[in-house]
Amino acid sequence: MKGVILAGGLGMRLQPLTKITNKHLLPVYSKPMIYYPIECLVAAGITDIMIVTGGNAAGDFIRLLENGEEFGLSRLHYAYQKGEGGIAEALGLAREFVDPDKVCVVLGDNILERTIRAAAGTFEKQAQGARVFLKEVPNPQAYGIAEVEGGRIARIVEKPAEPKTNLAVIGLYMYPPDVFDIIPRLKPSARGELEITDVNNHYVQAGTMTFEVVDGWWADAGESIDSWLEACRLVAASGANKGE
Ligand code: G1P
Repeated sequence: MKGVILAGGLGMRLQPLTKITNKHLLPVYSKPMIYYPIECLVAAGITDIMIVTGGNAAGDFIRLLENGEEFGLSRLHYAYQKGEGGIAEALGLAREFVDPDKVCVVLGDNILERTIRAAAGTFEKQAQGARVFLKEVPNPQAYGIAEVEGGRIARIVEKPAEPKTNLAVIGLYMYPPDVFDIIPRLKPSARGELEITDVNNHYVQAGTMTFEVVDGWWADAGESIDSWLEACRLVAASGANKGE
């Protein structure tokens, strides 16, 4: 399975920290934010990794990460997203890199306490469809929210004004290669972006979406300055990320 990290966007919710740099290059405790998703994939045994970024700080990713030697990799792949077309559009840029494999997608501002190795193994064996990862949150209006009925996801609603559950779909997704046939058929949402939630609902409607609720903490370091601070606090309190 290939790994794709999505690290574009304007980081508007973290302004003015993101005025002259990319959100994913900001520190989270002792490391740049982008280190955590890379470490997450590498720890799961996913070492063929593409980073999709954009904006005028894109070159800084190459200066920072080079070929990924710091993570034990011999090379990293990069793609450049022009404009603000959304998470699904960014994933679409990885088509030739991923094809014909499956892909594990991580949003560059998401940090997980625990390894995803077992989840990756489970998805490798999944015959069809996609897999998403859920976590209970206190502020469901800020996320894609899953409505679970009878052990299956019935629908996912992006940032609902009146959430029916508090189960956020976190920024970790596993897809079969046919995800790249779905993306070109999406229509932009009200915020003018191709939404990953629309991709996920395609699999929900096809009856081929599986899910699990993640153990351990999950942090979205890009949702707000408070969530960034909480991510710093969680990482600081976790020995694993201090390099101990
Ligand atoms: C994105 C997704 C959302 C998901 C969240 C997780 O939101 O659209 O469904 O719950 O990441 O971090 P965004 O960061 O684009 O607001």
